[in-house]
Parts: sequence; C-alpha cells; structure tokens
Amino acid sequence: MNTEGLALFALTATRPFGERVASRLDIPLSVHEEREFEDGEHKSRPLVNVRGKDVFIIQSLYGDDQQSVNDKFCRLLFFAGAIRDASARWINLVIPYLGYARKDRKTQPRDPVTTRYVAALIEAVGVDRVITLEVHNPAAFQNAFRCRTEHLDANRLFADHLASMLGRESPIAVVSPDVGGIKRAERFRQVLARLVDREPTMAFLDKARAKGMLSLGRVTGDVAGRVVVIIDDLISTGSTLLHAAKACRDGGAKSVYAFATHGVFVGEANRILASDDFEQVTVTDSIAPFRLDPELVARKLAVLSTADLFAQAIQRIHTGGSLVELLSTPSP
Ligand code: R5P
Repeated sequence: MNTEGLALFALTATRPFGERVASRLDIPLSVHEEREFEDGEHKSRPLVNVRGKDVFIIQSLYGDDQQSVNDKFCRLLFFAGAIRDASARWINLVIPYLGYARKDRKTQPRDPVTTRYVAALIEAVGVDRVITLEVHNPAAFQNAFRCRTEHLDANRLFADHLASMLGRESPIAVVSPDVGGIKRAERFRQVLARLVDREPTMAFLDKARAKGMLSLGRVTGDVAGRVVVIIDDLISTGSTLLHAAKACRDGGAKSVYAFATHGVFVGEANRILASDDFEQVTVTDSIAPFRLDPELVARKLAVLSTADLFAQAIQRIHTGGSLVELLSTPSP
C-alpha cells in the first residue's frame, strides 16, 4: 500500500481499533501524548512532525467506563486543532461510531439538531474530512457538514457472514424494523442478492416511540417460511430488534438473524439478546461490546472487524482511489 506522506493517529480510548487499522495498512500508529491534569482538564499533541502530512485521526464516539462520549469528542476536537496548528496538509477524522448522529432533526418544539452542532464544532477546528460508518440518516449527515464526508457501510461484511451461515436453498426475507430503515435494508438486500444469487424479499415494521415507550405494528411483506434477516444501524437496548424478531416469528419466519452496525448495548440489552427469538446477533467492532456478559457474547454475538474496510478507505482517500468501488466490489 502507498502510505508515503500519511500519518495515522488513534486516541487512547480507541487505540485497539487503531492498531488493527494500522496493521492492515502495514504502518505503525504515529506517536502522540495525552496528558491528564488534576482538575480534569487534558491536553494532547503529536510527538512527530506532521507538517505537510495527510493526517488521519481515529476516535470512536461512544461513552464507556473511562470516558463519556462528550469527553471523547472534546479530546478529538482539541487533538485535531493541535494537528492543524502543527501545519498538517489535510486532517481526516475517522469516526467508526459517530455519536449524536440520531439527533438529526427536531421531533419536538425547540428540539436541538445536535448532528449539525457536532458538525460545526468539527469544522471549527479545521477538519477537512469526516469518514464514518453507517449513520442513522446518511442524508442528514451529509447535509450537516460543509467539509467532505465519507459514509462507509458494512453491507458486504454482513452479506459474506450471512452467506457463510445459510444453506444455498433457504428463501430469505430482509426486514427493516422501522419505516426509516427501509432504504438501508434495501441496499443490504441488493448486496445480499448479488452474493447468494437469488432475490430475498423485503419486509418492514411500523415503529413508533413516544416518551421512550416503543410500539411496533405488524410486519408488512412476506416472511413466512423464510430465513429472516433484520437489519438496523444500531442496537441500543435491543428492544426494537426483539419486537421485530417476535413479529416475524408470529408471521411464520423459519429463523431470525439480526444485523446492526453498532452495538451500543445499554439497559436491558443483556436480557434481550439472550432471547431465543434470535439465532444470532451480528454487529461490527465500531463499539467494543464491553457492557455485555462475556458468556452471552460467546454464545450469541458475532463481532465483525471493520479494520480492513477503514484501512482500504484511508488508503484510497490518500491516493485518490474510489470509495464507490470499495463499497460495491464483491469480496475476493
Ligand atoms: C432508531 O430508529 C434506530 O435505527 C434504532 O432502531 C434504535 O436506536 C434502536 O434502539 P433500541 O435498541 O433501544 O430499540
């Protein structure tokens, strides 16, 4: 891979992910320092020269036991600012999980449009490009930013994984657990259809959330006698997926597999994931499943690595290659 003039940093909270990406690119992570002060403030700086470099900074924006999402975001902003002041040529943020991406519109009077404020803060420190994976609403994401944006997806990874588990003859139904996810499910269905060489059907559910309470309607579409594949951008408590799985079982589904790009896993997620309504739940490594019981992870969860996807995206961006090709070419 041509990585001349490229510098790759991963902030401490996302270091294991960053090391996996660096190893795919066959380069070491560039060295930086993160210092904590007694009053809770902090500072970060690169310990190598970045003047004129094409710099990529990895930080996944989810809260964990060590740092909140706000803390991670603030550190990312300050580090990007320091890189800009150190005269980097380009600054690219690689954010596998982009926090606050769900709050992309007003749903109540005087609601915030947080995605737009996040974008404004990122642009204010001089970032040139944001690369992320499967946001809640790609159109809102693209519109929030004035700097360049790159939106990756895990469709090929998911389709390969599913195909390796299914028999050649099983009829498949791809299901969106809500109306807002139909386009995402359809994109996945098309990738899957090319891979398994047959046409899965499409189905969806009606979902409404009022004051945090979820209500799901019936399945629209054909799931009877089929292997059902529910696809979503993220799992938070897991209740959306569980409602969808139960509705599909009631509709005569033969088996139910759930795929979501980001496993946030909060609240009742441990109990919900253990449900016999799912054969398996698959997520990516954009968020480590640190809140889940390890026994449940081993038994029920597949975590697919996106390190190769991000490494290839970084390499293509650096050398002027095509991301469209990256996302549309079948796996070797
Ligand atoms: C919302 O529309 C998202 O696409 C997910 O369906 C939702 O955030 C999942 O939340 P939970 O797992 O708590 O039901």
